[in-house]
Amino acid sequence: MCGIIGYIGAEDAVDILIEGLQRLEYRGYDSAGVAVCHQGELALRREVGKLNNLIKRLAKEPLSGQMGIGHTRWATHGRPTEFNAHPHTDNANELVVVHNGIIENYLNLKTRLQAEGYHFVSETDTEVIAHLIKSHFKGDLKAAVLATIAELEGAYAICVMHAAEPNYLVAAKKNSPLLLGTGQDANFIASDVPAILRHTRDIIYLEDEQLAVVSQHQIEVFDLQGQPQDYEVSHIDWNMVAAEKMGFDHFMLKEIHEQPTAFGQTLAGRVSEGEQKLYLDELNLSPEAVKDIRRICIVACGTAYYAGLVGKYLLEDGARIPVEVDLASEFRYRRPILDRHTLVIAISQSGETADTLAAIQEAKAQGAKTLGIINVKGSAITRQVDGVLYIHAGPEISVASTKAFMAMLGALQLLRLYLAHHCAQLNNTELVAAIRELRTVPRLIEETLQKIEPQIQEISTQLLRYHHCLYLGRGVNFPIALEGALKLKEVSYIHAEGYAAGELKHGPIALVDPLMPIIALATASDTYEKLFSNLEEVKARDGKIIAVATEGNESIAKVAEEVIYVPAVPEWLSPMINVLPMQLLAYYVALRRGFDVDQPRNLAKSVTVE
Ligand code: M6R
Repeated sequence: MCGIIGYIGAEDAVDILIEGLQRLEYRGYDSAGVAVCHQGELALRREVGKLNNLIKRLAKEPLSGQMGIGHTRWATHGRPTEFNAHPHTDNANELVVVHNGIIENYLNLKTRLQAEGYHFVSETDTEVIAHLIKSHFKGDLKAAVLATIAELEGAYAICVMHAAEPNYLVAAKKNSPLLLGTGQDANFIASDVPAILRHTRDIIYLEDEQLAVVSQHQIEVFDLQGQPQDYEVSHIDWNMVAAEKMGFDHFMLKEIHEQPTAFGQTLAGRVSEGEQKLYLDELNLSPEAVKDIRRICIVACGTAYYAGLVGKYLLEDGARIPVEVDLASEFRYRRPILDRHTLVIAISQSGETADTLAAIQEAKAQGAKTLGIINVKGSAITRQVDGVLYIHAGPEISVASTKAFMAMLGALQLLRLYLAHHCAQLNNTELVAAIRELRTVPRLIEETLQKIEPQIQEISTQLLRYHHCLYLGRGVNFPIALEGALKLKEVSYIHAEGYAAGELKHGPIALVDPLMPIIALATASDTYEKLFSNLEEVKARDGKIIAVATEGNESIAKVAEEVIYVPAVPEWLSPMINVLPMQLLAYYVALRRGFDVDQPRNLAKSVTVE
């Protein structure tokens, strides 16, 4: 939610800032702005809408300077207008600030500052930061920012530049992501790695309540008392190619096709054929600790929540441990009952989702064991939990999550086997057989994508005339129906709902008519016969059914107008195959409707505010 970039070095800052913002645009795209410092003078440009508008403005009104900051916004306080766009300045235009997060006490601060004579020009919470820094500035920007953040409540990642201090930038964070990059004759500040990956792969993850002073040749990190702090430099092991479209029209399509690799990367180094062993030390769960787990709670949002729901089926069935799944935004407010025998698992691509982070903090406060299933290394949640199972999906740029979902399922499959084995639900022979089956998944994903894509392109044209869609599934594929509906909603803006097929007759069947297509996950399973009866009920009411079915199932054609055949796999592996037509369908419908697939309206990739 909002992307921040800062640069200080030997080159002109503007191109570097804009390129960084292009890579951060997935975090928000309501408006964008940059500011530079040149010969002790600040200058800024801001534009409403996508970054391209700012680029056009800069072509007409260029800027130059070797130090600068930039921002791409996802509006929280105040509409997307030029005045509300970042960077924000003090009244004398001596300093500029970009911010990601929400300042919860901004109204109190604003009232006080207004009484002191500060004039506000925006509706944002961020502007108070600019005026506060000005009010504290006595010739030392670091001291002024420290005094300012001591007054802020809420979440912030900020980057500040002052005309009177033209040799360094100041950055600080609390509960919003921010990292520093060390380059050749230059240093960087950014919300996320891809923004600066072209320039450096050496990254310092700023901790909460730390402040950094970043000059061309030096980075210093301080705590809130201004005391110097040691820091580690992490080397990023993926490169720019992984964050490019590589010939695909959209990141979403590229990431759908990266799923065999993503799933393979999740397994890599953790399973080995023929061995009765899983290498999962990073769980920080010894076999004794596993036996001590009486209950598992999974917390997550959006697509990660649906991965969690699949996890419930997998873990309960495999390990016979009770599993609850909570929307992270609800978890702490329902006063959950947790103890040291509860394992709370946070699932998150970004590792920065504010609600998921808060849920894990609640779990820790109640003494539960915690585990993160996370993609982004070093992200906020990874620094809170007792163990992290990285999913290794690589950078996911499209706002609609696809390959991270697949890799989350991979991690949950590994966890299922690990827990089941140590809970004596899976003997050595069964473990070896299960590992062997799991290792076939990347190939199956690849073959399925290849086979179904042309048919999905065709089906997507038929869906264009509908305004609503129902997705049905049962058992472990019920969450896949939910995920299918979410994907369609978020990229194609067609209203869609996912239902457990058995629920249909308890209400939603009232919606069935020729204008309500039904997408049914009807692959081989223990409940297939029951699902088939549910589809008969739909057919009897003139519903148009598009079924995903197992190869060789001819009888499904009796009820379905379209059948998308997928390979036969054991039911516990079926979510990884069945989600593929869901993703492709959403992509192609959105494409044909002419929408911006990678950056759907009103959304942002990481939701770092509540
Ligand atoms: O980074 P996270 O996995 O924690 O994000 C959770 C959701 O915000 C995310 O899955 C969202 O629902 C996506 N837009 C789904 O495509």
